[in-house]
Amino acid sequence: MTDPKISQDLLEWYDRHARVMPWRTSPADRAAGVRPDPYRVWMSEVMLQQTTVAAVKAYFEKFTGTWPTVMDLAGADDADVMAAWAGLGYYARARNLLKCARVVAFELGGVFPSTHDALLKLPGVGPYTAAAIAAIAYDEAAVVVDGNVERVMARLHDVHTPLPTAKAELTALARTLTPAERPGDYAQAVMDLGATICTPRSPACGICPWRGPCAARAAGTQGDLPKKLPKTPKPTRRGIAYVAMDPDGGVLLEQRPDTGLLGGMMGWPGTAWAEDMPAPAPPLAAPWQMLNTQVRHTFTHFHLILDVAVARDVTTAPTQGRFVPQDAFRPSDLPTVMRKVWDLVAKAT
Ligand code: ADE
Repeated sequence: MTDPKISQDLLEWYDRHARVMPWRTSPADRAAGVRPDPYRVWMSEVMLQQTTVAAVKAYFEKFTGTWPTVMDLAGADDADVMAAWAGLGYYARARNLLKCARVVAFELGGVFPSTHDALLKLPGVGPYTAAAIAAIAYDEAAVVVDGNVERVMARLHDVHTPLPTAKAELTALARTLTPAERPGDYAQAVMDLGATICTPRSPACGICPWRGPCAARAAGTQGDLPKKLPKTPKPTRRGIAYVAMDPDGGVLLEQRPDTGLLGGMMGWPGTAWAEDMPAPAPPLAAPWQMLNTQVRHTFTHFHLILDVAVARDVTTAPTQGRFVPQDAFRPSDLPTVMRKVWDLVAKAT
């Protein structure tokens, strides 16, 4: 068992240094009895998976501004929610966000469940999110472990087992430190420590509240931890995206299938993406012109190089997708890779 004073020291640091975030209830407000809104905690934690705090802020403001309650979000049009999510990536999260809002709104009376186990049953809510909501919104002593917490635990206890093998070990260590008092503040404190002091490179050990008990600092190994198993290199896939414009400046877009990569998002018709360049598959017959530059984009499991074909003044009916009139087309509603295609076409015009 670890000394409970360690958790206390971190809470005292957090009382002085907690980052200000639009979804966060400050430690002072919490101490004064302010309870966080579970809807806002849930939304922020779903957005923060795989995405930085800096990138999430504007999206969080947009979502909670447009849909201030879970009832509002549950009643939203799918297409509006997907468009608002465009650019955040990992689009299955947006589809699950909406599914989850509808379960909470229509099956649970608009009230988020208050325990880790009940939260875990919601669509798109995995062990991390369930623990984060239980701790932050309801002050349950749930063990919240993200990449920041893994790094902090690996260093505090000088764990040399590489990730992801070390996950269970690091979670067990995190559990021994999670306090019964103020677990919500504590969970956010460890994440803040990892994000601001116990950073991946050049940690600021001199000002760390845990510099005393830190085993890695004593051993001088903090810069080498956490160890990671070598990543398998990402393959490169190729494809062609087709941008067709009608004489009025309308553009041909299609909605991607709900499942799979960029599921449910709008995009340009195109070939499959494969390691061997796929055969051309234009959505309509036209004098297609290839741009002489390509779009490059990296997904979780592969790099993508897209050739871009453009056809203007098209009057032929498409076999895929539909023409969106110029005044209804918002490039910002597109996922990033599709947005890059448009930026290249716009520059070439
Ligand atoms: N990263 C993910 N969720 C967070 C939170 N609630 N506070 C700080 N960093 C986070």
